[in-house]
Amino acid sequence: MKKLLHIVATPRGEESRTLQVSHAFLGAFRARHPAWAIDELDLFKEDLPPLTVERVDGKYALLSGKELSGPFKEAWEAIVRHIERFLAADGYLVSVPMWNFGVPYVLKHYLDIIVQPKYLFRYTASGVEGLVKDRKMVIVTSRGGDYSAAPASAMDFQAPYLKAAFNFVGITDLAFLNCQPMDAMGAPVRDQKIAAACETAQDLARNF
Ligand SMILES: Cc1cc2nc3c(=O)[nH]c(=O)nc-3n(C[C@H](O)[C@H](O)[C@H](O)COP(=O)(O)O)c2cc1C
Repeated sequence: MKKLLHIVATPRGEESRTLQVSHAFLGAFRARHPAWAIDELDLFKEDLPPLTVERVDGKYALLSGKELSGPFKEAWEAIVRHIERFLAADGYLVSVPMWNFGVPYVLKHYLDIIVQPKYLFRYTASGVEGLVKDRKMVIVTSRGGDYSAAPASAMDFQAPYLKAAFNFVGITDLAFLNCQPMDAMGAPVRDQKIAAACETAQDLARNF
């Protein structure tokens, strides 16, 4: 059975604008792909392992071609569990509001956990090779302001960061759906933008 991993990076549940759009995606996705399982990873409810010195040292051990053993291996169990869950997916939906021009800290933390040598990427003589192959991703964002045009677009560190990080591990079939502005122009504009984004989300799900 194929699996879609839905990574949720907002704590706002029912109040979340991002999740309103993602739920429109998921409704259309379930109708079009009834055989797929959906695994929801709610990062604000998850007890993400801290990047302690043992865990960071483990990364450097792997970078230098060593295997993890002893205390490194033990410290890495929680990391490997997250990596395995990520790699078990055949496709991804990421729901992420903009926080201070970037991503909420839980998503940064999650990426620091899973983007590991040997598992998600490796260095080769010809450069870096992403190991997450043939997987599609849709990233739904919502923002209080509108970053679609200059000069505000220069302050969008969210979409370029996520694109760089996921491209780095091999996910290049990646579509962004940015829902904006959610706060700056008041409720009527917000509601209109959410409705339009929900329609685009349904199209993306049907073509996933
Ligand atoms: C901690 C925090 C930081 C935020 N930073 C920004 C920001 O830098 N730029 C922006 O346009 N909106 C910012 N916002 C507004 C949210 O991006 C916006 O309200 C979004 O729609 C919230 O999504 P959600 O309802 O799915 O959580 C911030 C909101 C919070 C709570």
